Amino acid sequence: MLETSNAARLADLWDEARAASMSEAERLLYRSNLLGSDKRITNYGGGNTSAKVAQNDPLTGEAVEVLWVKGSGGDVGTIRLDGFATLYMDKLHALKGLYRGVEHEDEMVGYLPHCTFGLNPRAASIDTPLHAYVSRRHVDHMHPDAVIAIAAAKDSKALTREIFGGEIGWLPWKRPGYELGLWLEAFSRENPDAVGVVLEGHGLFTWADTARACYETTIRIINRAIEWFEGRTAGKAAFGGEAYRPLPAAERRAVAARLMPAIRGAISATGHKVGHFDDQAAVLEFVCSARMEELAALGTSCPDHFLRTKIRPLMVDFDPASPNAEATLAGLPAAIEAYRNDYAAYYERCKRPDSPAMRDPNAVVYLVPGVGMITFAADKATARISAEFYVNAINVMRGASSVSDYVGLPEQEAFDIEYWALEEAKLQRMPRPKPLAGRVALVTGGAGGIGRATAARLLADGACVVIADIDADALDTAGDELCGSFGNDVVRKVRLDVTSEDEIAAGFAAAAVDYGGLDILVSNAGLASSAPVEETTLALWNRNMDILATGYFLVSREAFRLFRQQGIGGNVVFVASKNGLAASPNASAYCTAKAAEIHLARCLALEGAAAQIRVNVVNPDAVLRGSKIWTGEWKEQRAAAYNMSTDDLEEHYRSRSMLKRSVYPEDIAEAVYFFVSDMSAKSTGNIINVDAGNAQSFTR
Ligand code: NAI
Repeated sequence: MLETSNAARLADLWDEARAASMSEAERLLYRSNLLGSDKRITNYGGGNTSAKVAQNDPLTGEAVEVLWVKGSGGDVGTIRLDGFATLYMDKLHALKGLYRGVEHEDEMVGYLPHCTFGLNPRAASIDTPLHAYVSRRHVDHMHPDAVIAIAAAKDSKALTREIFGGEIGWLPWKRPGYELGLWLEAFSRENPDAVGVVLEGHGLFTWADTARACYETTIRIINRAIEWFEGRTAGKAAFGGEAYRPLPAAERRAVAARLMPAIRGAISATGHKVGHFDDQAAVLEFVCSARMEELAALGTSCPDHFLRTKIRPLMVDFDPASPNAEATLAGLPAAIEAYRNDYAAYYERCKRPDSPAMRDPNAVVYLVPGVGMITFAADKATARISAEFYVNAINVMRGASSVSDYVGLPEQEAFDIEYWALEEAKLQRMPRPKPLAGRVALVTGGAGGIGRATAARLLADGACVVIADIDADALDTAGDELCGSFGNDVVRKVRLDVTSEDEIAAGFAAAAVDYGGLDILVSNAGLASSAPVEETTLALWNRNMDILATGYFLVSREAFRLFRQQGIGGNVVFVASKNGLAASPNASAYCTAKAAEIHLARCLALEGAAAQIRVNVVNPDAVLRGSKIWTGEWKEQRAAAYNMSTDDLEEHYRSRSMLKRSVYPEDIAEAVYFFVSDMSAKSTGNIINVDAGNAQSFTR
């Protein structure tokens, strides 16, 4: 939110004691990381920083001036030194002799690699000339919400003058590129007293001759904008005031859990999408306001914003005054279709003879009155970052509309950026998505040995994974470990007991809100027990039946419901057991429950096929390492059943196997992976034994 309290002011975090001993390049890095650490200064990946540094040429040994500038695709908050491109300033100036005018400006990007200093492999970005030609040593280009709010106001030129006097200039909208670089050069030369410039519809440039002065100027100018808004907006309701009360938090999540799988299903035809739900205060203020629809329809302004969020969001028809999710669901397919048609019409209206083919026409941002904002993208991080960008756009609309009229970018300009050949080239350079990218999996018993290995295997190939387990402590440990390896975006944990219908429903709803739905269920939670039949108590029998047979039924039923809401197929894998096929001494309750799981899988394979829901079984045997089952009394009971010491058990199972090999959790995970991946797209109702060979469990 564009806050207007003192707490909203940016602090000067520069530590001269630290910076004094740094090289010029290190000071640039320090400044960049300080600026990027605060989203009020710039959004993720947005903006760039530079310094012109005196260095020795590696060939001639002569002193040359080198431009260090954030490389293509980087983020100033997290950039390291190797994220900067380095270019000879004299060569950059020599490029002016090759410039054939604005209609040919894109070709200048092709010359940038020829200016590279020091064989630096980091690609120079489109914004390089914007930094190179400013006649100061240090340049910051930031996207602060408070300044973009000025840049996106109808009378932004007059406002810039009113707020900053002559200190900050103003340039009309111009797509970033070579021509804008020349404009900035001319401005900085003709206005030696100016410390920066507001770019209409875009953002802020600031400059100085030392790294510290540049940083302090950037902070001061942004604070000036924040302070000015404070004076102008205090006590005024934003966005024309509140039109609806937000629903209570739990109800907001419940509505999101109902809507998200349906949206996901409707927009995933060309590739599964992952969702993100955001109901922070700034979002709620906007989606409950009187002017939400009108302002959102104007589209976003800053190019970074709409590249991430598409030019405008889809407004979901939901009335928080008399909530009826069913009615909303009924209207969703038509609303989504209408959005796609609008997008196709925009493409047709604006396309040029050499425009790249139309990209996915589905909305990225879905605004639900009284509830919040839903975003969908090809992966979780992109969905989350798209939401962050739309929050920036909300802040901009809030500021601009409170002091003037907010203006979005003209449609053709927006199109020309979205379908810019250079933007397309950037997309083409992106690595191919991993096989499970866009897929969401829930693994029960995910805190145990096989469950955790399975989660790691699916995460390694790009899935988002919810680990579900009854053991909260083990869940924390497994969650921390998986987040450490794969990042916080793609791992969620949910505590649930697979014998509780309510807990299962809540766990699956959490997955729907966290990721938008579900593609893969790995039903794996379990236990093992051993007792001769005459000593098997009813309680022990029921425990096996409850957790294994009934537990597998309950989670599958919930997954089927969710799969059907999405309508894009689904995948269930049961981790059963060799003992479901082969009888084992003194384990009748366990073996029978495991046999029930296997037959349940066959029944579900039959029921799910028409909806492209596949159900398969992996049968482990004797996975001692990593398994909690094998740390308890089961190990002792098994050793007793075979009349040996527990230390000899692993060797016993290895030598009992036909292949004479031990089986590990990762081996089970590999078989699960095969079944959930498209490699096995034409298999359902199948069983893979992962038991190092055991004739007793050959399937017949
Ligand atoms: P594990 O004990 O390491 O993991 C099982 C997990 O399930 C544990 O984290 C546990 O907290 C969780 N769990 C138990 N009851 C639950 C409930 N009511 N609700 C939610 N979570 C619950 O055991 P392991 O070895 O990873 O076993 C996984 C599956 O593989 C089980 O179904 C087991 O029967 C099966 N299996 C294991 C074999 C082995 O040798 N380890 C052999 C054959 C089958």
